[in-house]
Amino acid sequence: MEAAVKAAAPVEVPQGKPIKGLPPGPRMPRALQTAIWSRQAQWMLGQSRARFGDMFTIRIAHEGDWVMLADPDLVKQVFTGDPKIFHAGEGNQILRPILGDNSVLVLDEKPHIGQRRLLLPPFHGERMKGYERTMSEIAAREIDAWPTGAPYKLRPRMQAITLEIIIETVFGVHDRARMDPLRAALRDFLDLTTDPRFLLPVVLAGPERVRRIPAFGRRIDRVDELIHAEIAERRAASGLEQREDILSMLVAAEHEDGSPMSDAEIRDELLTLLVAGHETTATALSWAVERLVRHPEKLERLRSEVLAGEDAYLTATIQETLRLRPVIVLVIRKLTEPVELGGYELPAGARVTPSIYLIHRDPRIYPDPHSFIPERFLDNPPGTYTWIPFGGGVRRCLGAAFAQFEMAVVLRELVARRQLTPARDGSERPFRRAITETPRHDAEVVLS
Ligand code: HEM
Repeated sequence: MEAAVKAAAPVEVPQGKPIKGLPPGPRMPRALQTAIWSRQAQWMLGQSRARFGDMFTIRIAHEGDWVMLADPDLVKQVFTGDPKIFHAGEGNQILRPILGDNSVLVLDEKPHIGQRRLLLPPFHGERMKGYERTMSEIAAREIDAWPTGAPYKLRPRMQAITLEIIIETVFGVHDRARMDPLRAALRDFLDLTTDPRFLLPVVLAGPERVRRIPAFGRRIDRVDELIHAEIAERRAASGLEQREDILSMLVAAEHEDGSPMSDAEIRDELLTLLVAGHETTATALSWAVERLVRHPEKLERLRSEVLAGEDAYLTATIQETLRLRPVIVLVIRKLTEPVELGGYELPAGARVTPSIYLIHRDPRIYPDPHSFIPERFLDNPPGTYTWIPFGGGVRRCLGAAFAQFEMAVVLRELVARRQLTPARDGSERPFRRAITETPRHDAEVVLS
C-alpha cells in the first residue's frame, strides 16, 4: 500500500506582517519525531501536510528543525534565493573528511560556484552522447551474465554497472591492470559513505580526527594513492583534447584566473562524483525495474518502443520513476540570515527543506499521484519546480543529464535482452539506506 498523502489542508498564509519564528508542526517530542521519521517518513509527511498545510516544521535529533516545504512557489523561492543566504554545503559537512575540503558538495557561496564552474562543462547534456557506447557495452556485458529462472536481486548488479560506468567515463580508466585495483579500492571507499558503522565515528570523532582512525585512514590512503597515480598519468599524457573522460577534462580545465585545478581539487571532485553518482543512479534503475515488472503492460509498451528505436516512452518511464520513487526525498538549505517565506520570518540558522516527496505526490499537480503512469509525461514535460528529483537552483544535481542518459542506456539494454517478472507478490516498499530510499528487497525479479 502506498503511504496515504491526504489533500493538503488549506494553507493558512498569515495576513499582514510575517510571523517571527518557525511554522507549526507535529507537537510530539523530538525523540519521537526522529523515531517516526526514520521508519515512517512518508506517513509522517503526509499526515503533517494534511494537518498543517504546505509549510510545517518537524524536529529531528542531530539535524535541528526542518521547515518542510510542499508548495512549488515556496520551493521556487528557495531554489532561486541568494546562495549567500541559502547554504547547502553546510549541511554536508559530514562528508568533508571523506570527500575533502574542495568537494563541490561541502562548499558554499564563491568557493562553491568556483568548483561548480569547473565541473559543469563535462556534464553538459550534449556531451553525454559520447558515453553511449561505453555505457551500453558495460550494461550488455553485465546483463548477459545474470542468471535466469530464479529470483535475483538487481540492486547490487545495478551498482556494479554504475561503478563500472564511472570508472570508465569519469576516471577514464579502461585497461584491466589498472581497473581491478581501482575498482576494489573504490568499493571499499564507498562502504565508508554508506555504512552506518563507519558514519558514526565521523560524527563522534569529528571531521578533523576521523582520518586518524585506522580503518578510515587506510581506505582513504589507498584510494588517494591510486587516484593521484591516475592524475599524474593524465597530466603527463598528450592529446588530452581528444579524450572524452571527465578526469582528462578536469586536468585541462582552468579557474577563472587561468590557473589549472590542483591535484587535491581534482581528487576531491572525482570522489564527489563517485559518491554522488554511483548509488543514486543504481537505486533509480532498481526502482524503474521494480515499478515496470509490476505493470507488465507498461513494460511491454516500453519494450516494443525501444525495439522500434523510439525514446519517448523510455524518457517518460524514467521521469515517472523519479517522480514516484525519488531516490532522495528532500534537500536542505541552511539560512545564514532571517528570511521571509510563506508568511513567516524564519530566523538565521533555520533549515528549509523542499520536500521532493510531497511535491511529487501532490494531487493538485499529479492526478492519481500514487500510481505509476509514465504516460503523464508524454505530453507534459516535467516542471522546474514540480518535478525536483535532482533538487534545483545553483545546487541542482550536476549529474542529472548523466544519470538520466545512463538510465536510458541501461534500461534499453535490459528490456531488449531479457523478459522480467517480479520475484514476489506486492510492491517493494522504500527502505532508507544512508540518504537514499531503495527498494526493500533490492528489486528482486526473475529473468528469462
Ligand atoms: C538518479 C540519480 C541521481 C539523483 C536522484 C541525484 C540527486 C541529487 C540531488 C537531490 C542533489 C542535491 C540537489 C540540491 O541540493 O538542490 C544532487 C547533487 C549533486 N549530484 Fe546528483 N543525483 C543523481 C546522480 C548523480 C550523478 C550520476 C552524478 C555525477 C556523476 C551526480 C553528481 C552530483 C553532484 C556533484 C551534486 C552536488 C551539486 C552542488 O552542490 O552544486 N549526481 N544530486
